[in-house]
Amino acid sequence: MSTFQYENIFGQIKLGYVIAQSQKFDEWISFMQKCLGLHLAEYTEQQLSFRIDDYQKRFIVQRGDAEDVTHIGFQVENQQVLDQILGRFDFRGIQYTQGSVEDAGNRGVKSFWALKGPKEIQVELFIEEVRVDQPLNMLASGFYTADSGMGHVAITSRKPEKMIRFWQEFFDARLTDTIEQKINGVTLDVTFLRLNERHHSIAVAETRGVHLDPIRTAIQHMNLQVLDLEDVTMAYQRCKDHGFPVAWEVGQHTNDREVSFYVASPSGFEIELGWAPIKIDEGTWQPVKHTSISVWGHHPKPPTKMHKFVHEFGQISQSIKKLRHDEYSPID
Ligand SMILES: [Fe+2]
Repeated sequence: MSTFQYENIFGQIKLGYVIAQSQKFDEWISFMQKCLGLHLAEYTEQQLSFRIDDYQKRFIVQRGDAEDVTHIGFQVENQQVLDQILGRFDFRGIQYTQGSVEDAGNRGVKSFWALKGPKEIQVELFIEEVRVDQPLNMLASGFYTADSGMGHVAITSRKPEKMIRFWQEFFDARLTDTIEQKINGVTLDVTFLRLNERHHSIAVAETRGVHLDPIRTAIQHMNLQVLDLEDVTMAYQRCKDHGFPVAWEVGQHTNDREVSFYVASPSGFEIELGWAPIKIDEGTWQPVKHTSISVWGHHPKPPTKMHKFVHEFGQISQSIKKLRHDEYSPID
C-alpha cells in the first residue's frame, strides 16, 4: 500500500496571475491602464495583458463571453512544493493536467499545471515566471508583490466549509482572522486565509443560515496593492472621471488595516486598490474575530432608485437561480 508523506508548504505559495474572460477589451484597457494605473504589455485580437512589476504578465484578459475571472495562477517556491501539492491531489484522486507550451506563453510562465478548482475556477500552479527588463510605463508609482505575491481574491461561496478546506488541505493555508458583519439584515461571515506573509491571499465570504451567493461572477473582488497612498487617491479620482462605478468609497479595513477603494470592473467583479496592509508575524499572530469590515469609510456608493431596483432584483434572482445549481467543489 502506498503512503504519502505530507510536508509543510506554508509560506511557499503566492498569488501569481489572474485571468479574466471578456469581450470588452477597450473598456479593460481604459480601466486598468488609464484609471488604476497598470502597464499595458500586450494587446492582440485574443488577449490583453498587464504588468505591475518585472513579471511579463500579471493580469490577463482573454477574448470570450464569460465576463468573469476564469483562472487563478499560484506560484510555488520550487519543484518539491509543486510535487507536494500534486502528490496531495493524487492521494485524494483529484485530476490535474499539465498546460501546453502555448498556454504557458500566454500566461508569462515557463510551464504550469491546472485543475478545476472550487466554483469551477481553474486553479493553476507554476514555479518560474518569464521576466522582462523593459521599464514599467504606468500611472501608479508601483505595486507591491515580492514575497507576498500579487494582492488577493475574495470569493463568495455556498459551500464555504469545502472552499476553506480546499485551500487548507492542498496549500496549507492558515486562518488569519474572521469578520462578521450585518448588511441589510443579513449576516455575512468572511474568513481570511494566508499562504505567506500577506495578511490574506484568499478571502471566503458566506451568508449565515442559508448560504446564498448573490454575486454573478466567480470572485467578488481582486485586490492589488500599490506602493503609495496617492496611488489609491489618484486612481479613485481617475475612475470617477472615466465613469467607472466606485462601489465602496475610500476607507480602511479593520483587520489588514489596508486603505483602499473598490470599483466595478468592465466584467462586473470588483477591483480593490489598496495601500499598506499589515504583514503577519508567524511568531506572535493570533486569529481574532472582528465585527465590522472597516475602521472608517468604505461607504457603499449611494445608488439611484432605478439602479437599486435593478441591482437588488438582479441579485435576488441570481441567488435563487444559483440555489438550483450545485456549487462545484473538487473535494467532498
Ligand atoms: Fe479585499
